[in-house]
Amino acid sequence: MFFTKFFMRYRERSQKIKACIFDLDGVLVDTAIYHYRAWKKLAQSLGFDFSKEDNEHLKGVNRISSLKMILNWAGLQKSEEEIERLAELKNQWYKEMIGMMNAGHILLGVEDFLKELKEADYLLAVGSASKNAEALLMKTGLRHYFDVVIDGTVVSESKPDPAVFLKAAECLSVDPVCCVVFEDAQAGVEAALRAGMMVIGVGKVEDLREACEVVSGLHELNVKKLCSILKENAN
Ligand code: BG6
Ligand code: MG
Repeated sequence: MFFTKFFMRYRERSQKIKACIFDLDGVLVDTAIYHYRAWKKLAQSLGFDFSKEDNEHLKGVNRISSLKMILNWAGLQKSEEEIERLAELKNQWYKEMIGMMNAGHILLGVEDFLKELKEADYLLAVGSASKNAEALLMKTGLRHYFDVVIDGTVVSESKPDPAVFLKAAECLSVDPVCCVVFEDAQAGVEAALRAGMMVIGVGKVEDLREACEVVSGLHELNVKKLCSILKENAN
């Protein structure tokens, strides 16, 4: 019922996508691995470990919610004060790991695709759970491509809540139905669907089954291919 409603909306919007909303970590920049490593280090310091498969559930989820999920997997209970301290520790490790980040960490094909989208007059936004998003966009030189950046400092609800994408659409003054989202996280795909947006997965099909199309990276896309994906999914 839920999905039928959204697939019917896909049909309505066929040609009218006006805005592209990009997740940041793992879609535009190669940082998903550092979030994973920093969380793993924290989990191990607590005498626990988790797998790459478990990590798929953490992608897209904000810092505190990720930590609560890890503590829950480990069967550990911590005070709110301790949770804040552990989240800050993970963030310190993560920031050390991304300290040297520059344009070399932009994922393959990203800049070509963004340039082409801008030339074709699409509005562009970032929709990320990260509180480090603005800093990363500046370090990598990607900030100027985006009309709007909605991140974890603007929206407190974590994906799969649709708030981050709905806020991006609102700031762009575009109906959610006219937006397409690019996401590498299961929680992000669900958030986009809940926002009533079409979503293209970036990663592996087995991790992102609900996306209308999955690519291994943005290097597989250009405006022509995007239009044909939008058209295919509109019929
Ligand atoms: C998301 C990442 O983009 O941002 C998550 O996929 C991360 O792994 C979340 O937990 C919050 O990031 P930060 O930088 O605010 O800790
Ligand atoms: Mg991501």
